[in-house]
Amino acid sequence: MATYYNPVKLYFGPGTLQQLSSIIQTTGVRRLLLLTGARSLKASGFLDLILAQLQDYELLLLDNVPSNPDVADIYRLRQAAAHFDYEAILAVGGGSVLDTAKALAAFKEHSLSDAEAVRQAINRQTYLDTPGRCPVWAVPTTAGTGSEVTPWATIWDKEAGLKYSIANNSLFPQFALVDPVLTQQLPPGLTASSALDALAHALEAYWSKNTNEIVRLYARQAMSQIVTCLQPLLRRPDDLTLRTQIAYGSLYAGLAFSNTKTTACHSISYPLTLQYGINHGVAVSLTLGGMLAKNEAALVAKDELFAALQITAADQLNDWIQSVYAQAGIPGRLRDYGITAEALPALVAKSYTPGRMDNNPVEVDKPFLLELLTAIL
Ligand SMILES: [Fe+2]
Repeated sequence: MATYYNPVKLYFGPGTLQQLSSIIQTTGVRRLLLLTGARSLKASGFLDLILAQLQDYELLLLDNVPSNPDVADIYRLRQAAAHFDYEAILAVGGGSVLDTAKALAAFKEHSLSDAEAVRQAINRQTYLDTPGRCPVWAVPTTAGTGSEVTPWATIWDKEAGLKYSIANNSLFPQFALVDPVLTQQLPPGLTASSALDALAHALEAYWSKNTNEIVRLYARQAMSQIVTCLQPLLRRPDDLTLRTQIAYGSLYAGLAFSNTKTTACHSISYPLTLQYGINHGVAVSLTLGGMLAKNEAALVAKDELFAALQITAADQLNDWIQSVYAQAGIPGRLRDYGITAEALPALVAKSYTPGRMDNNPVEVDKPFLLELLTAIL
């Protein structure tokens, strides 16, 4: 039996941002918390376009959401919004902004005295006991994270060197507005890394222990569009048709992994990001080719998957990913990020996130993982 659940109402297409106020009008909400990260949103003029549509609403703008938010950031932002009884959170940005919105929604009515209380609430999942969560409305400005259609958020704990997840079906955004025009000014590195994150979501959903035919349908479509359109887009970054195809690919990947969660590549990526600052989309894609080879015997309908990836052998995927890195100016070896052979055993030890590594279809033992990381050193 295949089952599938995703309650996010979708508004997709170039120019959809112009419909924001009429979409919000249908909700009856009057008091809005607007979250962004973004100098780039201001610089692009999109923030003005959004604010112009929100003139009739009571609004609190928090425009300083950092990349890879940690428990201290969540506490700081929650305090900054504590005086304002918002009815919904409009999150406009990349995955960090969208994930922060979910965390603030989860903790809206939860009593928190400091960052340590955020840490405890996440670890003990006590936020699930608190009613009164508000809806999140997601407007992604990158094409890759898929956070606009998932019910979970990544929150980091830089002090403890850990990565946490908050997850609950009540954290699915109420709606997602995906306007590819918002991604048109992304630089090549971010365009490529976001799309490679989406490719990882699709491929990991495809081979996840939780996969099924519905998930694989979304995943194959996502992979096919990303592999077909990413390199042409890097050559023609203003091409709105290609931006739209990549945005579709990212959305389909999000819909695929919203029902499976991720697997080994994401699990391995967390210490790479936490300890060495490697961008998320790069960190997850570094091991994608190696894990495809590792998982090959467990793949369902391998021929269809390889056709979607436009490869005839597993080792060709890493060649393609490396050519994308080269085109976008992204370093593609661990040593480029200051990682040494001596550091690999410690990285291996930190690569086993429960719920992610054990969601891989094939067991990933430590000797294999050391071999995998050595091959990309
Ligand atoms: Fe990801």
